[in-house]
Amino acid sequence: MALAINSPRGTADIFGDDIRYRNFIINNVKELFKVFNFEEMITPAFEHTGVFSRSIGESTDIVQKEMYTFPDKKGRSLTLRPEGTASIVRAVVEKKMLISENIPLKLYYIGNMFRYERPQKGRMREFWQIGAEALGSDDPLLDAEMIWMLNNIFVRLGFKNLKLLINSIGCSRCREDYIIKFREFIKPELTGLCGNCKNRYDKNPLRIFDCKVPGCRAIASKGPKINQFLCAACNEHFEKVKGSLSDLSLDYEISDDLVRGFDYYTGTIFEMISNDLASAQNALGGGGRYDRLLKEFGGPDKPAIGFAIGLDRTMMLMKELGIKYIDDESRAKAYIISIAAAGQPYILDVLKKLRDANIICDIDHTGAGIGAGIKRAGKKDYNIAIIIGDDEIENNKITVKDLNNFKQYSINKEDLLEKIIEIMGAIKND
Ligand code: HAM
Repeated sequence: MALAINSPRGTADIFGDDIRYRNFIINNVKELFKVFNFEEMITPAFEHTGVFSRSIGESTDIVQKEMYTFPDKKGRSLTLRPEGTASIVRAVVEKKMLISENIPLKLYYIGNMFRYERPQKGRMREFWQIGAEALGSDDPLLDAEMIWMLNNIFVRLGFKNLKLLINSIGCSRCREDYIIKFREFIKPELTGLCGNCKNRYDKNPLRIFDCKVPGCRAIASKGPKINQFLCAACNEHFEKVKGSLSDLSLDYEISDDLVRGFDYYTGTIFEMISNDLASAQNALGGGGRYDRLLKEFGGPDKPAIGFAIGLDRTMMLMKELGIKYIDDESRAKAYIISIAAAGQPYILDVLKKLRDANIICDIDHTGAGIGAGIKRAGKKDYNIAIIIGDDEIENNKITVKDLNNFKQYSINKEDLLEKIIEIMGAIKND
């Protein structure tokens, strides 16, 4: 009997059109990162457990419930990475990468992450993130640049209907004052909180804001707001971030309840949400400052900021919204069909021009005629047919057929590339 084995719950096999979507997103984001001067870094998919438990925070959902932690054969505790920031910081400290000449050190990564969550639409146990981290500077303009970059990812991909949320959770001093007040507020509400949040009340009350139980979040949101407790320095920093965002003409909304589910955050935090996604999984990406983390890892006492986007969620939403990927390869794929008796030099000239312009191009070698050639082109996913007969050669013309809508054009031979670009543009704007 054959062995019936399914993929584990919450994982995905990615193939076909999904691969094309994914590569489109990755290529686009890589191009953007290049423009902002970020370099790629790859870190291991698993780390010593302490890398995550200590930085993300013992009382977070991720560390308490969601990590894939296992002993290796020598009994050392290892964890499949639930996120990328802690690994990057561990690596930067270990490899002593943060030296004054390269501040801010700008790194990006693309990798699979693992969280033992209850799988649902847009939430998986193995998922992919694209993240960026800028280490070494606390310049508020850098915060604005990171937020700008996050925003631009989705603008470049063709998303609309997005909301950029920002907040500041201040430094540890601001938080001390706030937590006293927040505890006072929560105390009479304790009976309405879930078991986890009752524990969080003592250990880490801020985490009540990102509890998965909506009732807990609703209670927390009625309490005092952390951004009302910022010290003078944190307040000034946040004002400057907002000023730079306005200088960049970026629309944003202050979200008083945004705290983000990691203990390492300090100061500015932000999230890109889509109004087209269900509210439980509406974040396409998010990030913030983590000014204490390098030091906590034994590195220099330097600030840092970063964000990550969810690749699977982004891809899923693109498909749902009908945003097409623009894959150069499938965009311009031309099939030359010729019935001209002595047309070889003319045809080769066209073929060469197209291939020199990086347009995928083939000739119909069957000689079965125009109708059969067009059928064949359609079947093989060509989007443009180029028909060359004796008439065309005589008049220095080309007949171009847009196979997506069967419009046909007779054009001068010199105008071929322009026409193809025009047709491709028309497909793009469909
Ligand atoms: P995060 O908000 O946990 O942040 O994750 C970033 C994005 O990853 C989310 O907005 C979401 O799109 C996606 N994501 C998270 N969990 C899942 C899941 N289970 N299934 C599918 N997609 C998911 C971080 O991970 C931080 N390390 C970001 C950061 C970088 N902060 C500073 N630097």
